[in-house]
Amino acid sequence: MTEQVVRPLAVRSVGRSLERVDGHEKVTGAAAYAVEHGEADGVIDPLHVWLVQSTVARGRVARLRPEAALSHPGVVAVIDHSNAPRLRDTGNRELLILQDDAVGFRGQVVALVLAESAESAREGAALVDVSYEVEPHEAELREDNATYKPDSVNPDMDTDTEDGDVDAALAAAEVVVDHVYRTPYEHNNPLEPHATTAWWEDDAGREVLSMFDSTQGVHGVVESLAPLFGLEAEQVRVRAPYVGGGFGSKGEAHAHVVAAALAARTTKGRPVKLAVTRQQMFALTGYRTATISHLRLGATADGTLTAIEHAVQEQTSAIREYAEQTASPTRMMYAAPNRRTSHRLARLDVAVPSWMRAPGEMPGMFAHEVAMDELAVACGIDPLEVRERNEPDVDPETGRPFNNRRLLECLHRGAERFDWASRPPGPRATVDGDWWVGTGVASATYPAMKMPGNSARVRSLDDGRYAVAIGSVDIGTGARTVLTQIAADALDVEPGDIDLAIADTRLPPASVAGGSSGTSSWGTAIVAAAQRFRADHGPSPDPGVETTASAADDPAAEQYAFHSFGAVFAEARVNRWTGEVRVPRLLGVYSVGRVVNPMTARSQLLGGLVMGLSAGLFEESHRDPRFGHVVTQDLATYHVAAHADVLDLDAEWLEEADEVFTPMGSRGIGEIGIVGTAAAVANATFHATGVRVRSLPLTADRFLA
Ligand code: MOS
Repeated sequence: MTEQVVRPLAVRSVGRSLERVDGHEKVTGAAAYAVEHGEADGVIDPLHVWLVQSTVARGRVARLRPEAALSHPGVVAVIDHSNAPRLRDTGNRELLILQDDAVGFRGQVVALVLAESAESAREGAALVDVSYEVEPHEAELREDNATYKPDSVNPDMDTDTEDGDVDAALAAAEVVVDHVYRTPYEHNNPLEPHATTAWWEDDAGREVLSMFDSTQGVHGVVESLAPLFGLEAEQVRVRAPYVGGGFGSKGEAHAHVVAAALAARTTKGRPVKLAVTRQQMFALTGYRTATISHLRLGATADGTLTAIEHAVQEQTSAIREYAEQTASPTRMMYAAPNRRTSHRLARLDVAVPSWMRAPGEMPGMFAHEVAMDELAVACGIDPLEVRERNEPDVDPETGRPFNNRRLLECLHRGAERFDWASRPPGPRATVDGDWWVGTGVASATYPAMKMPGNSARVRSLDDGRYAVAIGSVDIGTGARTVLTQIAADALDVEPGDIDLAIADTRLPPASVAGGSSGTSSWGTAIVAAAQRFRADHGPSPDPGVETTASAADDPAAEQYAFHSFGAVFAEARVNRWTGEVRVPRLLGVYSVGRVVNPMTARSQLLGGLVMGLSAGLFEESHRDPRFGHVVTQDLATYHVAAHADVLDLDAEWLEEADEVFTPMGSRGIGEIGIVGTAAAVANATFHATGVRVRSLPLTADRFLA
């Protein structure tokens, strides 16, 4: 593999609102999603798989009777732990399905039904008769759970941190804010539910497992599945040409992907299609754990922080650990000489929690930014001022300088646009008819990340055109479009001269579309390959020459702390008689590096703001601890903000180019929009009503006391 030291990109197309290069395919329905592929893609005469899920939270499958299902028209097979193909134990018990009779959570896959149609498979699944030996379970997150300290938190951060003497500083502090903040279980609800098409074929005497999977990273699916099935990576091919969103829930393979591959193993080559239903997603495809954050802030009377403590309790699954890094933003956000963070997990008999847009930052910054608002109120200063007063010179966690920390500029720009200067000192200062009216602010932050292991290939075609290939996925963000722009600039041609191929493990490896790292990671690889190509082949290469390269590490980058920042402003109206909360105005101002495509970027930031608003007002999954499952498992009982909930909404960004971080000057925008947004709304409801709500969502009952 050639490593190329990258130079900053001379931008021409980058920075412009190129329309989505795949927009036409999408709006005409020509784009095939994971279970829509047909004969043209090698999916011939498929069978359909339906999942049978446990109805108890913990125990054993005592008896499973497939007879009624097998006699149902169209049903071909019922697969359970007694007859499923064997898997190798890779230590991931979420994926190790149908290997024994143990049940670790309600909703776990206990059988698969294969049939000639999806309808038959579903009918068949309902006819599988399963009885269980039930064992006692624990499925409720409470402050008095037994907890343990995980070795690290997502993805590999320190579990605890400590600097200075927090207890002494809190004891000596003139002002103390000491409260518990809570965020609920939330479920990722991308437009396209999880889905997989899988088949096994013989490739010159070697078995190959082929899949179309709705995933945020095709290579990651291979890394999960190949060892489970005892295959070499080259024996698994995963494609994901179009993906209808993920929000993190498609960042790693979940059990249904293994189910599809297992089922296909039994069909003598016939493909299988497995489409997870919306309801099944609430049990099987990940979710955001609920969090309990105990925040203690110590400050002088003017609001200067002397101590910050953030102790987190949350939950994981007994079958697989996932530790949300909820206190991670607290480590770097504000200055204070004494600081402590910790994470403890309750191990429950529940489905495995996972990534959901800004894991860590979203729940953590809700707690921290509401606490900062409380500190401002306690000190009698403006919420903007309390943030200015605690702006650090360097990253408090690492001691490194921030590469580009423009939080205060975001706050000031937002304040100007939101007419913050005319805000009455609150709370409960403004009534408009039946509504209390208030405004609130919160900071946002998200780390800038580039993932290792990316490379790209550039090949010259006829007529000055170029084929550019990388195995990355466009989950609906616009990645296909922005990578086309980046490739065009890197080769100094027009976007229309680029044939971009993505989303196939036969292409050069690419990291997951996660951690807001996609454009940074894949774009840098494309720039590396293009610059290497030009160095090797010059400006007028013969058709058919090619270069594959990855970017060399930049040692200069080691010396900085790379983060993006933002400021979110919200207006809230709280009905004086019903407690209903409306948000007539929501604005985010961001510092995210250079924006590669303003149109698609704006859509990402607005989407993040809507998701934050939705978390603020509505989203909450109710788990019934008696039975262990989420009972609000549809979009009627789990409300996601709809058009009528979103009123005046806007996002803007500071003009900048972060060429230390990436040759494009960009830093990533997928997640920062959700961060701080729920806190801004909560702070606005306090300003409106004088009622301080420290747990999400901000439902009407909170304001009626
Ligand atoms: Mo995002 S939760 O990192 O896919």
